[in-house]
Order: sequence, then C-alpha cells, then structure tokens
Amino acid sequence: MAPAVPAVEARGLFRRFGAVQALAGLTFQVERGELYGLIGPDGAGKTTAIRAVAGLLDPDQGEARVLGLDPLRDPAVRERLGLMPQQYSLYRDLTVAENLQFFARLSALPRPVFRERAERLLGITRLAPFTARRADQLSGGMYKKLALACALLHQPEVLLLDEPTNGVDPVSRRELWALLHEFVEGGMAVVISTPYMDEAERCHRVGLVHHGRLLLEGAPERLLAAARVEGLPRPTFEELFIREIEGAAA
Ligand SMILES: Nc1ncnc2c1ncn2[C@@H]1O[C@H](COP(=O)(O)OP(=O)(O)OP(=O)(O)O)[C@@H](O)[C@H]1O
Ligand SMILES: [Mg+2]
Repeated sequence: MAPAVPAVEARGLFRRFGAVQALAGLTFQVERGELYGLIGPDGAGKTTAIRAVAGLLDPDQGEARVLGLDPLRDPAVRERLGLMPQQYSLYRDLTVAENLQFFARLSALPRPVFRERAERLLGITRLAPFTARRADQLSGGMYKKLALACALLHQPEVLLLDEPTNGVDPVSRRELWALLHEFVEGGMAVVISTPYMDEAERCHRVGLVHHGRLLLEGAPERLLAAARVEGLPRPTFEELFIREIEGAAA
C-alpha cells in the first residue's frame, strides 16, 4: 500500500512583502484526524502561512500541499478544503439562513443535502433559534460560529481557521473548541491559528511561529514536560513561549 499523504504540508515557505520577511522557512505537517495549532504573536506570519496553504498566495520559495495536491494549481483542492479567514466576510445584510444558502450555492450543494447539513450545523453551533437574524445583528461569537458553519457546509477534509476565537467570549470559545474536537475525531485535519497561548493545550500539536518560522513544535504536554526538566517548575505556555522568543532574540 502507498504511504498515506499528509493532510497538510508546508515545506520551507518563504514570502517577503517589501521589507518584511513574513515567512522565513516555515515547515510543518498535519495528519488527518489531527488538530494543529499555529501559535504566535501579532505579525508572526500565521495568516501568511494559512494563505499559502489555502493557495491564496504564491510563496517566493518552498511549497504547500493539501492532501498531496498543489493548492495553487489543482482545482480539486477547493472541494476538499475549508477556510475561515481572519477577516471573514459574511453578507452582513443577509440573515443566518440566507448566508448558509449563499455559501451552499457557491459549492453547488444539492438542495436536500444542503437542508440536512444546514440543520445539523445550526444545531451544533446553537444558531438554530437565530436563522432569521441578520448577520450584522449577531454577537461576535455567533458571527464566528456562522462563519464556521459556512466554511463546513461542503464537508471539507481539511479545515483552516485563522484566529477563529479572537473576540469570542469564553463560553463560545469552549464550545468552538469542543466542535473542532468532534470534527477531528471524525478524521478531519484542522489547522488553527491563535495568538492566545492558553489555547495551545487544546491542540494535539502546536507550532510556535515567530518571524515567519517555527521556534518550537510538539505536543503541548511534551513541551511543558521538557520545560519542567529545564528548570521551570510549573511552566505555562505563555512563559514557555516568551522564553523561546527571548532566546531567539538573544
Ligand atoms: N499583503 C501584505 N502586504 C504587506 N505586508 C504584509 C502583507 N501581509 C502580511 N504582511 C506583513 O507580514 C507580516 C506577517 O503578517 P501575518 O498577517 O502573516 O501575521 P499574523 O501572524 O497573522 O499576525 P496577526 O496575529 O496580527 O494576524 C507582518 O509584518 C505583516 O505586516
Ligand atoms: Mg493573522
């Protein structure tokens, strides 16, 4: 049997915007059924990395693969990938139900399939009571959940989420993470970016992004255990990451 291809591969990605080196040799790999966190401060390169994996940006060097396919050149990637960008644009003057219908039409979902999926997604995001509400009248957390539902309508095998929990209240944040765990248990591969260090522990593996490359990568409990050995008695991710970032600067 041929070895399974990784769900996501970023191989030595470089990308410069004028004087800014946004990606400087970023490499990571994510398997099916894995929840991978790209964690790093503002401007670290998380969005640029996600855009490169989604095929929205041509790297100067290196390449990205999604399920073994080239996201820049293979149109089949679109059907198998879900993306929730950092500035997710729903139609603000359309209702919850209308937004879902709009995104279903984009991926040409047959009506009965759409009905069934929309119902399920409205249920798990708890948006069912609000289908008639306009998107611009939703709370920040509800808006993000609607965006997530729209990104999931076509049942992608790989899901890329750029800071989906930013500005979301703690309860909705917890719900969103619980949802993601359900999806990966079903075999989906999820890449999620977040500036919140405390969200690291909710991922199977994390990569700490800084100045466009990974400073540290691994399973959260292993990274914490290693820090303990190195002299932080009760390390938090924040301490661990700050130490790495300061170490890299020194
Ligand atoms: N289109 C662009 N034109 C110019 N500079 C850009 C562009 N996109 C990104 N950059 C710069 O590249 C660097 C990395 O940006 P990126 O958006 O990837 O960071 P990020 O980790 O997503 O940050 P944040 O947490 O604030 O979203 C930043 O310095 C940013 O200003
Ligand atoms: Mg970003």
